[in-house]
Amino acid sequence: MNTPDEIFAEAKQLIESAQHPAAAEELRIRYLGKKGEVTALLKSMGQLGPEERRAYGMQVNKLKQDVEALLEEKKNALAQAGQSVRLAAEKIDVTEPGRCHAPGVRHIITITIDEISAIFMNLGYSVTEGPEVETVFNNFDALNAAPSHPSRDMTDTFYITENTLLRTQTSPVQVRTLLTHEPPIKVISPGRCFRADTPDATHSPMFHQVEGLLVDEGVTMGDLKGTLDLFAKRMFGANVRTKFRPHFFPFTEPSAEMDMSCFACGGADPSCRLCRGSGWIEILGCGMVHPNVLKVGGLDTDRYTGFAFGMGVERTAMLKHGIDDIRLFYENDVRFLGQFL
Ligand code: DAH
Repeated sequence: MNTPDEIFAEAKQLIESAQHPAAAEELRIRYLGKKGEVTALLKSMGQLGPEERRAYGMQVNKLKQDVEALLEEKKNALAQAGQSVRLAAEKIDVTEPGRCHAPGVRHIITITIDEISAIFMNLGYSVTEGPEVETVFNNFDALNAAPSHPSRDMTDTFYITENTLLRTQTSPVQVRTLLTHEPPIKVISPGRCFRADTPDATHSPMFHQVEGLLVDEGVTMGDLKGTLDLFAKRMFGANVRTKFRPHFFPFTEPSAEMDMSCFACGGADPSCRLCRGSGWIEILGCGMVHPNVLKVGGLDTDRYTGFAFGMGVERTAMLKHGIDDIRLFYENDVRFLGQFL
């Protein structure tokens, strides 16, 4: 068995070189644990005579205290070192500039629909939506489209069954509204439409429209013109002027297309890219609701009249922001989308 001095010398060396609290704990067990070397010395004292035991006992007790003290000191030092390491790792430089996350933006189609909707909501319209899968009845028949109307053709329209299709326009929401609401009716309806078109700079098989419908007693073409003129001014600028050109839609009579004065050149530039020198840009279709459509809703056409309008959202956005290719809307290139806030 080693002497107390030998044990102390060895313990001191080992404790001093311990690098980790777990190593220090191992040494505690090795020397002071139940089967430890110091404990063994204490136990062995039983064999000694009383005189010898006293002197030896004092020596071993001192050894025990010294080893305890060394271990205590080492554990404190290690704990403190550990804390310094942790504090260094957790250090926060409060003067460091923050890291920016690029926030998402609304899609320009959504922004445009929101803008159009806000203008009409300010005029007291409510916003309603219809399904993208429609009945042939709502999309064509109830809208007074002749059985031979070319838009009904399979080459123009995506049919799902003989009686259902992907709506080609938002106008069927007029029918749904007339079937479920009593005048006064004042709604707009934004949404997706589908046509079997080959994509190019101005065509896409999927696109968006905003429909409008107002039905009440005594509604005139003057109301239509005033409303849509105000819309054009709020959407494109207070200086914009509008004119109404006769047109044909099955569900309105009379029907018109509304043009607005070119906000790019004001009508003064013969080489203007936007209006091609004409000074006017077509922005929407409109008209007085055809009596046949009002009758679908069971309305008394002597008492009620109304106007309707429909506009392309992509076209509106392209005009407003100078976008020259409709396909840009659907390619999801963030460099394009991120320009519109
Ligand atoms: N549905 C028409 C289209 O897709 C647009 C339209 C024109 C809607 C005149 C209307 C309207 O409500 O009165 O070409």
